[in-house]
Amino acid sequence: MITLGQIFKTLPEATRFEPGIRRAPKRDFTLTEEETELAIKNALRYIPKKWHDVMAEEFLEELLTRGKIYGYRFKPKERIYGRPIDDYPGNTIEGQAFQVMIDNNLDNNIALYPYELVTYGETGSVFQNWMQYHITKKYLQEMNDEQTLVLLSGHPLGLFKSDPKSPRVILTNGLMVGAFDDLKNFNRASSLGVANYGQMTAGGWMYIGPQGIVHGTYSTLLNAGRMKLGIPEEKDLAGKLFVSSGLGGMSGAQGKAIEIAGGVGIIAEVDPSRIKTRDEQGWVSFVTDKAKDAFQKAYESMNNNDAMAIAYQGNIVDLLEYAIENNIHIDLLSDQTSCHAVYDGGYCPVDISFEERTHLLQTNINTFKTLVDKTLKRHFEAIKKLVKNGTYFFDYGNSFMKAIYDAGVQEICKNGENDLDGFIWPSYVEDIMGPVLFDYGYGPFRWVCLSGKPSDLDKTDQAAMACIDPERRFQDRDNYHWIRDAKTNKLVVGTLARILYQDAYGRLKIALKFNEMVRNKEIGPVMLGRDHHDTGGTDSPFRETSNIKDGSNIMADMATQVALGNAARGMSLVTLHNGGGVGIGKVINGGYGMVLDGSYEKDDILKTAMLHDVMTGVSRRAWARNSHAIETSASYNQMDNNSWITLPEITDEEMIKNLVKKHYQKGGK
Ligand SMILES: NC(=O)c1ccc[n+]([C@@H]2O[C@H](COP(=O)([O-])OP(=O)(O)OC[C@H]3O[C@@H](n4cnc5c(N)ncnc54)[C@H](O)[C@@H]3O)[C@@H](O)[C@H]2O)c1
Repeated sequence: MITLGQIFKTLPEATRFEPGIRRAPKRDFTLTEEETELAIKNALRYIPKKWHDVMAEEFLEELLTRGKIYGYRFKPKERIYGRPIDDYPGNTIEGQAFQVMIDNNLDNNIALYPYELVTYGETGSVFQNWMQYHITKKYLQEMNDEQTLVLLSGHPLGLFKSDPKSPRVILTNGLMVGAFDDLKNFNRASSLGVANYGQMTAGGWMYIGPQGIVHGTYSTLLNAGRMKLGIPEEKDLAGKLFVSSGLGGMSGAQGKAIEIAGGVGIIAEVDPSRIKTRDEQGWVSFVTDKAKDAFQKAYESMNNNDAMAIAYQGNIVDLLEYAIENNIHIDLLSDQTSCHAVYDGGYCPVDISFEERTHLLQTNINTFKTLVDKTLKRHFEAIKKLVKNGTYFFDYGNSFMKAIYDAGVQEICKNGENDLDGFIWPSYVEDIMGPVLFDYGYGPFRWVCLSGKPSDLDKTDQAAMACIDPERRFQDRDNYHWIRDAKTNKLVVGTLARILYQDAYGRLKIALKFNEMVRNKEIGPVMLGRDHHDTGGTDSPFRETSNIKDGSNIMADMATQVALGNAARGMSLVTLHNGGGVGIGKVINGGYGMVLDGSYEKDDILKTAMLHDVMTGVSRRAWARNSHAIETSASYNQMDNNSWITLPEITDEEMIKNLVKKHYQKGGK
C-alpha cells in the first residue's frame, strides 16, 4: 500500500528561488471563479488533508501569479541531476533507470525552467507539478516486474498488474478529444491541472541535452549543402555561411552542428543567459552584439576555411536587415525561435529588449501579441529579399511559417490563401531529412550509460562505430564520422549519453551488441531510446510527415501504431503525446525507452520491437509512394525477418492526368 500520507510525511519549507535560474513567464490564465476553485481542488487531491488550508492559499497565489499550479514548495531542496543508477532505490532495474532519466530532465543545468518542470522548447514539461514528481518516483521505487505504471499527462494513475515482458511504464501527454484539440482548450485544461505539454522527450523522459539535436542539425546542414549548394557528398561545408536564431534548448545545437559540419554560423539570440550557457560550453566561440562584427568575423573564418560558431546577441530581424542593407550573402538560412509557442514568449519582438519582452508578456499581452505579429511580418520580408538573392531558406520545424501565416501573411501560403497546401518555403523534413534520412529509416537512436562511468560511454562509442560500414551509403559515412569524433566534440551535457542516427538494422545491431556487453559485465546497464522526431514516431504535416504526399499527412495512425506495437512487444517505456515541437493539435508523437540489463529476454524484445519501431514508419512512407522508402521496404521484404510490407503499385501520372482532365472538360464535378 502506498498512500499520499507516506509520500508526503512533512510539509516542506517554502521554496526560496535561487537567483540566476531562469523562470517561466506567467502562462495564459483565463479561468473563471468556478474554474479557479476547481483548479485548486484538483491540486489538493495530491496533498494530505491536514495541510489543505495552507496549501489552498498557496495554490491560489501560484495560479494568479504564474497561471498554473506547480507546487513549488515540493521541489526537492537538494540538487536534482541524473545520478548513477545504483544511487536510486528500486525493485526493478527499469524503475531505477527511469528515475535517472527523470532527474536528468529536471537538472538545473539542463532544464530550461527547472522550477516549473520545463525541460526545453518553452513549455515542454516532465510533469505538471512537483507532487506528481514525488508520487511517480515512489511508484518507480516500489514497482515490481509484474506491474506497469500508467501516467496521464504527468499524473501517476497507479501501478497496474501486468507481466515481466510488459512495459514497466506507459505514459501519455496532452492527448485531447478531437473537438477540443486546440490551444485554447489545452491552456484551460493545463490551468486546471489536467493536461501536460510533454513536448517530445521532456514528458517522455528521454531528453539527453542538446546533443540529441546536434546530430540531426549536423545531418540537415550537411545535406542542405549537398542538395542546394552543390557540395559533393564527400565534402563538408567549408567556406559556407549559415544564419539562424535561437540558442535555447534545441536551437542551442545550431552553433555546434555547423562547426562539426565544417562551416561558419551566426546564430542570433535575444536572451544573454542562453548565450552565456553556450559560450561556457564551448558551443559558440565568438560573441558580439554588433551585426557588423558578426559578419566580419564570419567572412574572415570562411576565407580561411575555418569552422566557427558566432553568437549575435540581438534580434534575428536586426541581423537579417543588416545583411540586406550591406549586400552580405548568406548561403543557408533558418530560424529556431519557439514559434510553436509564439505568443507565450517563444518569439521575441524586434525593437524591444529581452527584459522589456518579459515585462510586456506579464503585463500587457495584447500589445505583446501585436508586436510579435509586426516582427513576424518584417522577418518574412527580410527572408523574401535574401531568398531572391540566392539564399536557401528552410523552416526548422518550429511552426515558423505557420506563425507568419497566423500573423496575417497569406503570401506565405502555397495557394496564396490558406495553409491547406502548405507554405512557399520547404521545411527541413520535407526537403532534406524526410527523403535523405527518414525514408531509409535513419533516425535519432540514442543511449544513456546508466552507471555514470565515462569508460562505459567510450566503450559503447567504440562498439557502435564497429557496427557501421562507412562504405555502404553516404549516410553511413556521415554517421561513422559522427561517432568517431563524438568524444572529441565534447557533446555530453547531463547524463553520459550518445546520439547516433541509424536505420532499422543498424539500431538493432548496436542494441544487441550493447546488451551482450552488459551481459559480459564489460559495461553497466544502458537505457536505449530515441527522439520522437523520427521515421515513424511522429505524425505531423508541419514537420515529420511533411514529405508524405498521399493525403495521409493529416492522419495520426502511424505514430499511434508505433506506440501500440512497441507496448505489445515489451519496450520498457512507451510514450504517446500531443503537441511536441509544433504545437497542440498539430502533431501526435511517441517514443520509447528500453533498459538493457544483459538478459536474453531483452535480446528477444529488441529483435521484434526495434525493427517494428522503425519499419512501421518506413513502410507507411513507402505506401505514400516515397521512392527511398519503397526501396528500403523492398529490400526488407527480401530479408529473413518473418515480416512482409505491402508495397504500392506506381501509377502512370500522364494516364491519370488525361483521364481526369477529360472528365472535367466534359463538365464533370
Ligand atoms: N533543433 C531541432 O532539430 C528542432 C527540431 C524540431 C523543432 N525544433 C523547434 O525549434 C524551436 C526551438 O526549440 P528550443 O528548444 O531551442 O526552444 P527555446 O525556447 O529553448 O529556444 C528558442 C530561443 O529563441 C530565442 N529567440 C526568440 N525570439 C528571438 C528573436 N526574435 N531573435 C533571436 N532570438 C530569439 C529565445 O530567447 C530562445 O532562447 C521549437 O519550436 C522546437 O520545437 C527544433
